[in-house]
Amino acid sequence: MPVPLLDLKRQYALLREEIEARVRGVMDSQQFILGPEVENFEAGVRQLSGAGAAVGMSSGTDAQIAALMALKIGPGDAVLTTPYTFFATAGCLSRVGARPVFVDIDPATFNISPVAMAEYLENVARRDAHGVLRIPTGEPLRAVVPVHLFGLCAEMDPILRLAADYHLPVLEDASQAIGAEYPLTRGEARPAQAGTMGELGWFSFFPSKNLGAFGDGGLTTARDPALTPLLKAIRMHGMEAQYFHRFVGGNFRLDALQAAVLSVKLPHLGAWAAARRERANDYRAAFRRAGLLEKVTLPAEPYAEQGLRNHHIYHQYVVRVAAHERDALRAHLTARQIGCAIYYPLALHQQECFRSLGYRAGDFPAAEAAARESLALPIFPELTNSEQQEVVGAIADFFS
Ligand SMILES: Cc1ncc(COP(=O)(O)O)c(C=O)c1O
Repeated sequence: MPVPLLDLKRQYALLREEIEARVRGVMDSQQFILGPEVENFEAGVRQLSGAGAAVGMSSGTDAQIAALMALKIGPGDAVLTTPYTFFATAGCLSRVGARPVFVDIDPATFNISPVAMAEYLENVARRDAHGVLRIPTGEPLRAVVPVHLFGLCAEMDPILRLAADYHLPVLEDASQAIGAEYPLTRGEARPAQAGTMGELGWFSFFPSKNLGAFGDGGLTTARDPALTPLLKAIRMHGMEAQYFHRFVGGNFRLDALQAAVLSVKLPHLGAWAAARRERANDYRAAFRRAGLLEKVTLPAEPYAEQGLRNHHIYHQYVVRVAAHERDALRAHLTARQIGCAIYYPLALHQQECFRSLGYRAGDFPAAEAAARESLALPIFPELTNSEQQEVVGAIADFFS
């Protein structure tokens, strides 16, 4: 039985009438740029996440560019981030003219390692005579960008503490993690959510995301609601009063049509995350029953016992197998028509476009190992138990 990596048609079948009515409403209004649908969606995200500001953007990429522009991070700056993420995280830093500086990941979670971060800040970066924190090539270090990869929050407690010690803003790439929670010890009534713990953050609504648009879409968050007008100006070419520009922004607007689709989907996000977690639990049980736990390392759930609902939202279900077996396993699953994917085949410091940064193979062993060993298996709310049995059965056949 073929098993897709992701089948969006199943979700659409459940929401088709509601979405079509909402989209028709936008078409009837002929108001396509910003307007009530976008505002309504932004309010929904603020309410769901607890973010102080939520400003809809044209993609996760543009949402990150807008966040960087809000902090005036640009040419001559350096930003600390992870080498194991989707390209955009570091690509956006380069696009605004800043230099991505990588530190290695925690091999158990795939997320940036706070230990590696501390090591870099303590032993590699240096304060100059004016107290500016600089990297060895001279650029001032302006921010830290942790990524909540695959739907699991990075270890934000130590990251936020370190960043505060070094007076660095934290910008969260929450593109894959809308709704994911973290056991932050801030004494607040509700658990902290991805995209609300740092100064700014961003989500992607690329169609395959847990909250997916019918095209590109994204959103920038900020802890401080007072940043809303700045972010709104940035997404409109820096325009505040009509046709008056004190600075240059971009066209980063979220379409009303996309906001309409996203608003229909938003109330389902919690149930979908719960269903994804159930699928993850089912995988765990099935891999154990099949005796595969020695061969296949399942995703870590470091916050599972800490009273959180969305301790992991399983945007992706990424397992690890020995590097020498990974590609053969992928070929075996593909031959059986079982969807799987490699997120990501190359750590970012090894990408050709970043050669000028001067990194070498071996600089970030945990990220490089993850790139050789990881394999994403099908996970989505509507995935059936028999499909999961098929996936695990095929993997068991491969190792038998
Ligand atoms: C971690 C990460 N960062 C950034 C992005 C960029 O988002 P988008 O594709 O919406 O521009 C994505 C998603 O594609 C992502 O997964």
